[in-house]
Amino acid sequence: MSEIVLEGGVPLRGSVGVLGAKNAVLQQMISTLICPGWHRLSNVPDIADVRALMEVMEHLGVRCDLADKELAMVVPERMSVEAPLELVRSMRASILLLGPLLTRFGEAKVPLPGGDDLGARPVDMHLNGLRQMGAELELVHGVLVGRAPRGLEGTEVELPFPSVGATQNLMMAAVMARGDSAIINAAREPEIEDLGVQLEKMGARLSGVGSPIIRIVGTRNLRPAAHRVMSDRIAAGTYAMAGAITGGEVTITGCEPAHLRMELTKLEAAGCEVERGEGWLRVAGPHRPEAVDFATLPYPGFHTDLHPQMVAVLSVATGTSVITENLYDGRFRYVGELARMGADIYTEWQHAIVRGVESLSGCPVMATDIRAGAALVIAGLVADGVTSIGGVEHIDRGYADLVHDLSGLGARIRRQDMNNDDRTRLFGW
Ligand code: EPU
Repeated sequence: MSEIVLEGGVPLRGSVGVLGAKNAVLQQMISTLICPGWHRLSNVPDIADVRALMEVMEHLGVRCDLADKELAMVVPERMSVEAPLELVRSMRASILLLGPLLTRFGEAKVPLPGGDDLGARPVDMHLNGLRQMGAELELVHGVLVGRAPRGLEGTEVELPFPSVGATQNLMMAAVMARGDSAIINAAREPEIEDLGVQLEKMGARLSGVGSPIIRIVGTRNLRPAAHRVMSDRIAAGTYAMAGAITGGEVTITGCEPAHLRMELTKLEAAGCEVERGEGWLRVAGPHRPEAVDFATLPYPGFHTDLHPQMVAVLSVATGTSVITENLYDGRFRYVGELARMGADIYTEWQHAIVRGVESLSGCPVMATDIRAGAALVIAGLVADGVTSIGGVEHIDRGYADLVHDLSGLGARIRRQDMNNDDRTRLFGW
């Protein structure tokens, strides 16, 4: 099995570019289903989740071609409305197929995505919202079978929590529904706004996207569109934190600093110098970070997908930080692996107390999800000796080439097939 192997101790220096956001492109691929024809997305990262969703789309009958960051999709007039279990089982975003398929074809069969490495992750808000729009949904042997023989009806849906996915699913459903819709307590993430822009290019009529109330006037008058995917704020934040922990200076291009307001404020509070420009940001790390408290919240709060990476930074801070995780019950699964490297972190319920240590020491660790993997890489950048990170397939879901990008900044990092002899040589056991 391939692992990421790195030797810590090099301050990162230089410039790294980020591409389109995983959490924007997946939704934008799915939203093309509402309208037949030739759609194009640019700035598309070649990550495992995009490739997996391309397979799902091909199974439905969409022709997909990804080359040189351009994804062309030809959506046919007639297509399958059944998503294949083996392809969508591990992909949460597949629940977003329901809205577009139901609104366009009046039927959909999508296997219910289970819990994952971040915890239970229910989909009740997606289903309740679609039911309010007139869909009949039942779970048959693990597959969500949806019907709306007369199409979906526009209505007002109030979300109990500003769920990113439920907001996106309902936006895509409402765009083609009969009459007007409103999503109250909608998520305000930049990825929602970017989906709104793409839908508008397709002829959808939306207002208030990016605010807590989104209004949509349904129309069947839609056309295919070309859209440039917004930049990946989580990749940008990951590289900022990688630079910060090493005491180096990293410039990140192709990003939107305004999307990272809270995270950059916290990095500044930890002693980093941050410069922001149009489409770029520069982070210079301190000799040693200072402790900072933060709580994850929906946008514009601190993003849960940058929580593990920030804790990696704070694990070597001077002082104690208190972290509160408000989105996922399973987010702290990376803590045991950081502790193996010498981090002093105590968790209870949704809180972590991170007592900064002077140094970490490299050892074999295992990524349990995408962001846990990124956090372990960040920790390895300052650990004494060698760190090897397994579970690389998680990292590949969200980062096109983390190893290449970090080695371009000077990190001693490589990808390697590891066996027991390699481990004995590297770690002495
Ligand atoms: N939730 C419910 N019921 C629902 C929907 C959500 O209880 O019907 C709960 C979730 O369990 C979670 C919270 O609401 O506790 C927020 O979930 P949300 O729906 O906002 O998240 P998502 O749409 O499932 C997307 C990203 C995640 C990111 C979250 C939060 C994609 C494909 N995924 O998930 O990204 O953490 O928004 O910003 O866009 C990642 O990239 O590593 C990742 C996990």
